[in-house]
Formats: sequence, C-alpha cells, structure tokens
Amino acid sequence: MDKLKTKIEFDAVSDNEAFARIAAAAFVLKADPLVETMEDIKTAVSEAVTNCVIHGYGNSGGRIVMEMELEKEEDAYIFSVVIEDFGKGIKDVVKAREPMYSECSEEERSGMGFTFMELFMDELTVDSTLGKGTKVCMRKKIMD
Ligand SMILES: Nc1ncnc2c1ncn2[C@@H]1O[C@H](COP(=O)(O)OP(=O)(O)OP(=O)(O)O)[C@@H](O)[C@H]1O
Ligand SMILES: [Mg+2]
Repeated sequence: MDKLKTKIEFDAVSDNEAFARIAAAAFVLKADPLVETMEDIKTAVSEAVTNCVIHGYGNSGGRIVMEMELEKEEDAYIFSVVIEDFGKGIKDVVKAREPMYSECSEEERSGMGFTFMELFMDELTVDSTLGKGTKVCMRKKIMD
C-alpha cells in the first residue's frame, strides 16, 4: 500500500462532528500516529466540519464531503484531508483566517477555528466561492 484513499459524505448537522473526527482518527491508524498527532488531526477536522455546519449552512442542514488520503513516504506518512460544503461561501478568506475574526460576534464563537487548523496541521488552504461553498484542505506529516 503506497496510497490509501477514502471519501465520505454526511449530513451537515452537529451530531456528525463526532462522526467526522472519529472517521479521521480511524483512517490514520494505519500510520500509527502519536496520541498528540491524532488529537491535532481530530481537532482540526472537527473545527472544519463545525464551520460547514454553522457558517456554510447556517445550521439549516446540507451535505459535507470529506476526502482523506494517506501516502507513504520514506520515513513518514503524509495525511491529507479535504472538507467541502456547498453552502454560502466566504466573502473574504484572508480576513476569515485572521485569529479572533468571527462573523458571529455576540455568540460563543471565538474566531479561532482557522487558527487552530493552521496550528495543528502542517498546511491549510481555503478555497471559497460566495454562494457556491467552501473547500478546506489540510495536510500533516505523521512520522514513523
Ligand atoms: N465553511 C464556511 N462557510 C462559510 N463561512 C465560513 C466557513 N468557515 C469559516 N467561515 C467564516 O470564517 C470565519 C472564521 O472562522 P473560524 O472557524 O476561524 O472562527 P469561528 O467559526 O467564527 O469561531 P470558532 O471556530 O472559534 O468557534 C467565520 O466566522 C465565518 O464567517
Ligand atoms: Mg469555526
């Protein structure tokens, strides 16, 4: 096995945040990650999925597609995950990615989701089109 791939699609409801993080954890087991690495991946996935549920679809439901890949390199595995929604999209991605920026100011959101994703993973890219949706891609190296 040099490359392992999977694609899942699920309802954009908060009950599926746990499903998505456990699915990611199960998927990377093959690479035998450290507990901390596993926690980083679970947190990042959970932040991305929560954003689709709350911001992408405004809590009114929709679909989320999550694709994962695990690629074997000489001394490590490279884990990559793409989390996509087909909701409202982001007007200004640069601003959205700033620490403590949140469009929901008076609620319990701290505006740290993208910051955590960036911190816990090695690479984060965000592609978004207003009215079409948002695609978040993240990569992380899992050392042998
Ligand atoms: N999938 C998405 N669809 C539409 N807008 C999004 C999406 N993900 C993020 N955003 C926008 O980017 C902003 C920043 O997201 P981020 O996750 O960093 O903070 P937050 O979700 O507001 O707060 P927190 O994640 O700390 O609870 C959001 O407030 C929202 O405006
Ligand atoms: Mg968030």
